[in-house]
Amino acid sequence: MQENPLHARYQIGNYIDTYALGHYARVLDAEDQRDGRIVAFKVMRPEHLSGDGTPRWEARAFVHEADLLVRLASSPVPVRLYDCGYLSAPDERPDGGEIVSLDTNIAAFKENLYPYIGRGWRPYLSLEYLPRHQNLFYVMKPTANNHRRRLPSEEGIDLAMQFAEFLRMAHQQRIVYMDHKLEHVYWDGQTLRIIDFNSSKLAETGTHTLDQFLAKDVHNLCVGIIYPIFTGQSPQKGALMPQPASQAEVEQRYANVNALDFSEEPDLSASLQDLLQRGARQELNTIRDFMTGLERVATKHGWDLPASPTIPALRAARDHMRFGLSQLRQGQEALREARESLLEAVILDDINEDMETELRRLLAQINQALNHRVIP
Ligand SMILES: Nc1ncnc2c1ncn2[C@@H]1O[C@H](COP(=O)(O)OP(=O)(O)O)[C@@H](O)[C@H]1O
Ligand SMILES: [Mg+2]
Repeated sequence: MQENPLHARYQIGNYIDTYALGHYARVLDAEDQRDGRIVAFKVMRPEHLSGDGTPRWEARAFVHEADLLVRLASSPVPVRLYDCGYLSAPDERPDGGEIVSLDTNIAAFKENLYPYIGRGWRPYLSLEYLPRHQNLFYVMKPTANNHRRRLPSEEGIDLAMQFAEFLRMAHQQRIVYMDHKLEHVYWDGQTLRIIDFNSSKLAETGTHTLDQFLAKDVHNLCVGIIYPIFTGQSPQKGALMPQPASQAEVEQRYANVNALDFSEEPDLSASLQDLLQRGARQELNTIRDFMTGLERVATKHGWDLPASPTIPALRAARDHMRFGLSQLRQGQEALREARESLLEAVILDDINEDMETELRRLLAQINQALNHRVIP
């Protein structure tokens, strides 16, 4: 195995996981020294190294995640895997030491698990970097005064369609995602991306459990993703909260959620509420069942689908809706840029009180406007 100094391969930057800590890993930004690309560097937490030198569940989960990411790479939805391997640095934040980099050679990653864990090295994955302001948990967190945020219906339906299409192709390969929570979902208004496949499963063929896994995945999608994006609430009732993350907790997280509370969002499309309640009651056994219901909801919102064409007025209304939503996103982005610009001014040393007071007044107003933004 080719072992090299870590810093010759990656320049490790800052932690980027602080708002949504994972159980298995710490995640930092890093610069890949081969091509200058900024990556998300996911390294196993040192507490998961066992005293006896054999890999624990958590270490094996890294190989498992890399394997699933390669299997699912033909879908545009999962985060891209660039490289995987092992590193020797003992501290949580890997500074110095050696690295063995295996690209996306999963067989080599697997073969080297026992030898390298035996030497106290830790597995890492180098992943496509996804920006924090597109993470749905980050952008939908309630404000200090508990103001909820939700996605517009048009965007939520679009996201649900993309998620369902992704699960359809994953389920065809007997892969279930399982770990549905907003912390793992990125959305820019148009394109869905998903991270963290170490709790996902590759189910055995032709068993009764396969069908149960597939049905459970649809349940988790409905209650763990689609419900929160349309209500800004957690399915266990109440404000959006970080969700527990260890293997046992992932299995149990939504097990008791068999009804959803729409009392804070009573105007949400009745057909959508109905679909999600059916999902919560585990009446949708396959992703196809979910898609059929979702298509019915989408048609009511102006989507023109082969199975059920919509009427011209609804189609036209949806075109205006999409244009309006993209303008809104641009407007919110412009507000953030304006804030950056005023913040640059306010930190200048020699400005006088007149200028500073006026800058602070405007900044407070911009913050207020952003707190009440229309799109999360
Ligand atoms: N590709 C990525 N780009 C940006 N941030 C990421 C990426 N992957 C993970 N993170 C951040 O790190 C956190 C933990 O990563 P995750 O893959 O969920 O680890 P774990 O397997 O320990 O749960 C995520 O919630 C997210 O905030
Ligand atoms: Mg996670």
